[in-house]
Amino acid sequence: MTDMNLTFIGGGNMASSLIGGLIADGWNPATIQVADRDEQQLQRLEARFGIATTTDNRVAASSADIIVLAVKPQVMKEVAMDLAETIARHRPLVISIAAGVRESALRKWLGAGTTIVRTMPNTPALVQSGATVLYANAAVTEDQRSIAESIMRAVGLALWVEDEDKLDAVTALSGSGPAYFFLFMEALQAAGCKLGLPEDTARLLALQTAFGAAKMALESPEDAAALRRRVTSPGGTTERAISVFQKNGFEDLVEKAMQAAAGRSRELAEEIGNQP
Ligand SMILES: NC(=O)c1ccc[n+]([C@@H]2O[C@H](COP(=O)([O-])OP(=O)(O)OC[C@H]3O[C@@H](n4cnc5c(N)ncnc54)[C@H](OP(=O)(O)O)[C@@H]3O)[C@@H](O)[C@H]2O)c1
Repeated sequence: MTDMNLTFIGGGNMASSLIGGLIADGWNPATIQVADRDEQQLQRLEARFGIATTTDNRVAASSADIIVLAVKPQVMKEVAMDLAETIARHRPLVISIAAGVRESALRKWLGAGTTIVRTMPNTPALVQSGATVLYANAAVTEDQRSIAESIMRAVGLALWVEDEDKLDAVTALSGSGPAYFFLFMEALQAAGCKLGLPEDTARLLALQTAFGAAKMALESPEDAAALRRRVTSPGGTTERAISVFQKNGFEDLVEKAMQAAAGRSRELAEEIGNQP
């Protein structure tokens, strides 16, 4: 696997995190190449990882077994159409990490028959703790699926969906989810300050509590509801707080927020896919 040539088109935040994760996982830096239009960024990547770089996307794509499209969604059409001929000639596996760019749009720009894995990573991938969901089109082989999965696993959890429409729900949950938790941390911190805690103490307690709860939930065989019940003694402080959340429609609010995010995800995918 590590002998396959892997090319990143776009060498920004996500590409850097993936490359760092892959090299830590044992990928040979000599097999990794990055193309980006920003020469200074390429110099930084060369110095940090010892990988080859170029400002020519087509040159980078022509030697690749796997191409990771890691540019912003707004420039994906232009980048993909420019690579279509090279990809039709060399037939690499194409993995897109761009939010909201559908497989059908990529296929339209890259050419029918292109083997495409569309992924939806999230921001904690930048600290190797991401959650990525992958979707493969019909041209992708089993071997290519496992390669795509191992690439995304270099920065965290990787799960598959067989129905691309599910990626709107994924976007609403794990894609936008880090911001929901940040919002909750902000609210805990602000309320902690109002209860009299110094700001720094409230901030650290909010962060460590979020981290500790996530670690416990990940390591426990029990689900979140069971863990919550375990720390909610009848008549205690936690029960009093949870009842305030629930009486004020907490679950309903979360559902409405996620419905809104999924709807916006569908709209954005339409806008990107229907670009003139
Ligand atoms: N960051 C995240 O947490 C996250 C989470 C989920 C999904 N994603 C997806 O990951 C993709 C990359 O995001 P990112 O945060 O890594 O963005 P980024 O840091 O802006 O990286 C994109 C890189 O692509 C370069 N680029 C732009 N046009 C190019 C072209 N025509 N040819 C070659 N390179 C070009 C950009 O250069 P310039 O700076 O000069 O434009 C930049 O260095 C996006 O599609 C995003 O939706 C990111």
